[in-house]
Amino acid sequence: MTVYLNGEFLPIEEAKISVLDRGFIFGDGVYEVIPVYSRRAFRLSEHLHRLQHSLDSIQLKNPHSETEWVQLIEKLIASNAPEDQYLYLHITRGVAKRDHPFPNPPVAPTVFVMSNPLNTPTAALLQSGISAITAQDNRWLRCDIKAISLLPNVLLRQMAVDAGCVETIMIRDDEFMTEGAASNIFVVKNGVLAVPPKDNLMLPGITYDVILELAAANNIAYEVRKVMKAEIFDADELLMTSSTKEVLAITTLDGKAVGTGKPGVMFSKLYSLYQTFKQEVMRA
Ligand code: PDD
Repeated sequence: MTVYLNGEFLPIEEAKISVLDRGFIFGDGVYEVIPVYSRRAFRLSEHLHRLQHSLDSIQLKNPHSETEWVQLIEKLIASNAPEDQYLYLHITRGVAKRDHPFPNPPVAPTVFVMSNPLNTPTAALLQSGISAITAQDNRWLRCDIKAISLLPNVLLRQMAVDAGCVETIMIRDDEFMTEGAASNIFVVKNGVLAVPPKDNLMLPGITYDVILELAAANNIAYEVRKVMKAEIFDADELLMTSSTKEVLAITTLDGKAVGTGKPGVMFSKLYSLYQTFKQEVMRA
């Protein structure tokens, strides 16, 4: 596997960083995950725009212009074998003596990009849906930043795995739903899709936007609003979305069936719209 590190394309085994990297020491950095279909990066400018928001939020200068990012990404895609990949972009504040404030004068950021094969959910998983648990959202108040410091998300996702499940749906203040440990969550009731607004309490998902655009274009009723805790237990369907999982039905929540316990009509509709959109945009 060929990766990009600080200006060089090299085999992953040869990519090395300093132990004093602030990403390693403090988790001081941001990242992006971008799916690639038929060697074309999906929604690239939207991902680069979100990256800019994350960098601005941590006061880190973007190391590349959009044109440079596009060139770098195209070269990395071409250097790796799979037709479908997912790219992981990772930028930290660089290498400096361990001290909490930003290095002054600033040091060069560490820029790392790797590609992995993209394995979208299997037919079996699409048919069964996945199981999820709920847990308290104990993260900070800047969940809109795609920060590499993911310890809360890691612990929350592990809670799901320990319970034999796939995802954890987070509840803030014992009151309302925010998102999944690594996904956005949609609730369906009486044919209406509901999802929380893109505020500081969740990651503004790129797949989330695609789903809302598809809903708008296909006369599917949807509401962007606070989703209360009680609604997720009373839902006809629950859906999770992310760049690597696309759209999945959550059919079991905290050990109980969601709706009929099978992926529902809203899932089928949105899944097929998403696949058609992907084929048209990416594989044409
Ligand atoms: N995670 N919310 C969180 C906390 C996430 O980590 C992700 C994605 C999403 C969905 O965003 P998008 O549709 O842009 O992928 C929502 C990626 C896939 C990851 O960390 O691997």
